[in-house]
Amino acid sequence: MDAQAHLLPSRREFAGDDLIFTLNGRAQKRAAEGVPVINATIGALYDDTGTLVVLDTVMAQWQQLTSAEIAPYAPIGGDPTYLLNLVQRHWPALTSVGVGVATPGGSGALALTLKNLLERGQTVLTVAPYWGPYSTLAVEAGMSLATVPYPDVHTGLDLGAWEAACRDLLDAQGRLVLWLNDPCHNPTGRSFAAADRRALMDMLRDVSSQGPVTLILDLAYLDYARDPREVRAALDEYAAFAAEGAVLVGACLSLSKAYTLYGARAGALVFPWSTDRALQAALVTSCRGTWSNCARGPMSVLNRISKDPALQARLEAEHAQWRTLLAERAQALDAALKGEGLAGCAYDGGFFVTLDGGADPFATCERLQQRDVFVVPMPEGLRVGICAMKASDAPRFAAAYRASR
Ligand SMILES: Cc1ncc(COP(=O)(O)O)c(C=O)c1O
Repeated sequence: MDAQAHLLPSRREFAGDDLIFTLNGRAQKRAAEGVPVINATIGALYDDTGTLVVLDTVMAQWQQLTSAEIAPYAPIGGDPTYLLNLVQRHWPALTSVGVGVATPGGSGALALTLKNLLERGQTVLTVAPYWGPYSTLAVEAGMSLATVPYPDVHTGLDLGAWEAACRDLLDAQGRLVLWLNDPCHNPTGRSFAAADRRALMDMLRDVSSQGPVTLILDLAYLDYARDPREVRAALDEYAAFAAEGAVLVGACLSLSKAYTLYGARAGALVFPWSTDRALQAALVTSCRGTWSNCARGPMSVLNRISKDPALQARLEAEHAQWRTLLAERAQALDAALKGEGLAGCAYDGGFFVTLDGGADPFATCERLQQRDVFVVPMPEGLRVGICAMKASDAPRFAAAYRASR
């Protein structure tokens, strides 16, 4: 049946196709033909044999789950023990969740921020380049996305541009929501320098005199930082800022990368420094009215690991192994690029780095494909998934990249 008359006209403009899936599909087709491709479009961690990394400590607990840990409905806002354990994974000194609900991954948490903190037609601010689904989330909520530039490697944060964007939105809509994917940013693979982070917080404090400002930390890749001490310092700084209370600070938490439970869809939206009952009630209503409640199984896995120091130590050892591998891959790529006479690649953590895409990153991406190298083009450059690209592929990648520019 032709559904033309049924589908809302405003919903007809969607291509129904995701660029990353398309590129990944092309890479897989070539690989199936026996061509040695470099597929850096992937957004999940693979080992050097091309196998998806699944953390053993996590899966061992998953396999021991009892019926009671899987089957019953979870509370609509999420299991309180799970929420506290997840918050304490990030801020061990906190003794309460504050306001918080379980969500299907960080994506569900991001969606709830739009539903509850902005009106339809308004604009959420984020940093460019950004994780592509940010714009889909905004469109789905009937909103738009405005961007400020990620701090330049050499010159750092463009505070003037950031402040102007914040003030413009506050003028236009009386409120500001900023999605900040820091530390371990997708797609740059970088984290804010401490001075830039402080400057940002000072600016947000200043502009909050104009209207309510919410800073949403999107924390997806923290376990894969080159230096975990920098993550700790960043989270502590955000906590101190949040505790001041001038700006509402929330966090989108996720087990997708942290536990390699991408398909289990577990996460949370938390505001650990707020006790606002109206905010809690609104979030629970959103949960009920969107997905009802979240899967209990992954919550139970987190609870099992959180109460067992030996399991936590084992998991930490696994994370250390994989973050070391990622740092080695970034290092190999940096060296190979420099070996080709090009600028290297900055890397502080996460699954990606971003390279200069030249005048037209989409055309550069096409030329790379002719050499069977697949990356994701963005207006600001090329996203390279070091999560799925082994260090020994770096020289071939760098040569193809130089030839494609
Ligand atoms: C920056 C960023 N935020 C959030 C997410 C959300 O992931 P999930 O919904 O699987 O937790 C991702 C996943 O790739 C991401 O890259």
